[in-house]
Amino acid sequence: MDNNNVQRDGFSSKLGIIAAAAGSAIGLGNIWKFPYITGIYGGAAFILVYLVCIALIGLPVMLSEFTIGRRAQANAVGSFKKLAPGTPWFLTGWMGFVAAFSILSFYGVVAGWTLDYVVKAITGAYVGLEPDAIGGLFGALISSPVATVGWQLVFMAVTAGVVMGGVKDGIEKYSKILMPLLLVIILILDIRAVTLPGAGEGVNFLFKPDFSALNAEAVLVALGHAFFSLSLGMGTMITYGSYIGKKENLGETALQVTIADTLIALAAGLAIFPAVFAFGVEPAAGPGLVFITLPNVFNQMAGGMIWGILFFSLLAIAALTSAISILEVVVAYLSEETSMSRHKATLVSAVAITFVGVLAGLSYTSVLGGVTIPLPGFGSLVVFDWLDALSANYLLPLGGLFISLFVGWKMVRKDVEAEVSNDGTVKIGWIGMFLILAKVVAPIAIAIVFLNGVGIIKL
Ligand code: TRP
Repeated sequence: MDNNNVQRDGFSSKLGIIAAAAGSAIGLGNIWKFPYITGIYGGAAFILVYLVCIALIGLPVMLSEFTIGRRAQANAVGSFKKLAPGTPWFLTGWMGFVAAFSILSFYGVVAGWTLDYVVKAITGAYVGLEPDAIGGLFGALISSPVATVGWQLVFMAVTAGVVMGGVKDGIEKYSKILMPLLLVIILILDIRAVTLPGAGEGVNFLFKPDFSALNAEAVLVALGHAFFSLSLGMGTMITYGSYIGKKENLGETALQVTIADTLIALAAGLAIFPAVFAFGVEPAAGPGLVFITLPNVFNQMAGGMIWGILFFSLLAIAALTSAISILEVVVAYLSEETSMSRHKATLVSAVAITFVGVLAGLSYTSVLGGVTIPLPGFGSLVVFDWLDALSANYLLPLGGLFISLFVGWKMVRKDVEAEVSNDGTVKIGWIGMFLILAKVVAPIAIAIVFLNGVGIIKL
C-alpha cells in the first residue's frame, strides 16, 4: 500500500479488458484441444457437461480471481500477501507462479508447431500428399530438434516482445488487434464448413447429444478443461483483474469473457467437424486432429490452401494472446515483488521458461525421448507430458480450489461485496448464489476432480 501514489499500469478501456482477458482464455485449449476431446468423448453430450462446468465452476472461479486481483492491486503472489498478511495463503500465488512456468514451457512448443504449420500451409508443403505422408510430416516436425526448438524460440521471442511493452501499450494494444482478427477468421471458416455438402452430420455430432457415450471420465475431463480453457487456477485472472479499472463491473466482465471463450470453442468445433465428417475422416483422432486430420481435409477442399493458411494463422494468434497472459503472471510477480525492472523481469522469465521449454520441446526427439521423470499417480513421463500432467492435475485444480476457498471463506463478505459491487454502485442480486458456488460447489467439484486425477479415488 506504500506506493499507492505511483500510477500502476493497467487496461485503458472496457474493450481492452475484454480483448486481453478473452485473448488469454481463447487459446490452443479452444481450437486445438476442445475439438479433439469433444471428438473422443462423443460430441454433444460432452459439450453439455462442459457447459454446466463452465457455468457452475468456471464462472465463479473467474469472478473470484478478478475480485482478489482488483481488491489487492497486485500480482498473484502479492495479492494474497496484501489480503491475508502473515498467513500461508501466498503459497497459492506461488503455486500459480510454478504453474505458469510449467504451462508456458510446453505451450510454447505446441505454439511453435502452429507457426511451422502456417509456413507449411503457405508453401503448400502438405498439398497432394497421402494421409500417411501427412502424418509423417507431423512426426518429422515433432521429432526434429532443430525445427521444434527453433519455432519455439521464435514464438517465445514474439511473446516476450509484446509483454515487454507493458499492460496498456503491449498486452492491450496487441490483443485489440489480434482478437478481432481471430473472430473474423473463425467466422469465415465456420461459414465455409457448414456450407460444405455433407456438413449436416458434423453439425449433428456437435449439437445432438448421445448420452450413451458419456462416462465419469468424460465429466472429469470436461471440468479440467473448463479450468484450462478459462485460464483459471494459476493467477492469470488475478493478475489481469488487478489491471481492471475500479469503475468496471467485474461480474459482467467475467460473464462476457466466459461467454466469449465458450462461443469460440464451439465455433472451432463448428469449423472442424462438418469438414471432418464431410470428407469421411476420423473425428476421434486425438491431439493430431488439427495437425494431421485437418491438412487432409484441406487437401480435399476447393481452395484448401487458403483455408489452411487461415486456420493455422488462427491457431497461432490464439496461442500468442494466451502465452502473453501466462508470461505476464511471472513478469508481474518479478517486477512487483523484486527490484527488477519490467524490462529485465520479462527477459529473465522468458529466457528461464524457454530453457525449461526446450527440454519439453526435445521430449519427442531422440535427444530427450528416452528421459522420463516420475509423477505420483502418472508413472514416469517425458518432460513435455510431465509438465502438462503436473499443471493440469495438480497445480491448476489446487490453485482453483484455494482461490475459491479464499474468496468464499477467508475474505470478509463485506469486502467481497464492496469489490464486486464497486462500493454499492452496481446491483449484485446474484451475490448469494456466487458465494454458495465459491464456498461449496466449486471446492467440492474441484476436490473430486483432483483426487480422481491423482488416483486417490477412482470414479
Ligand atoms: N486458456 C488458454 C487456452 O485455452 C491457456 C491459458 C492461458 C491458461 N493462461 C492460462 C491455462 C492460465 C491455465 C491457466 O489455451
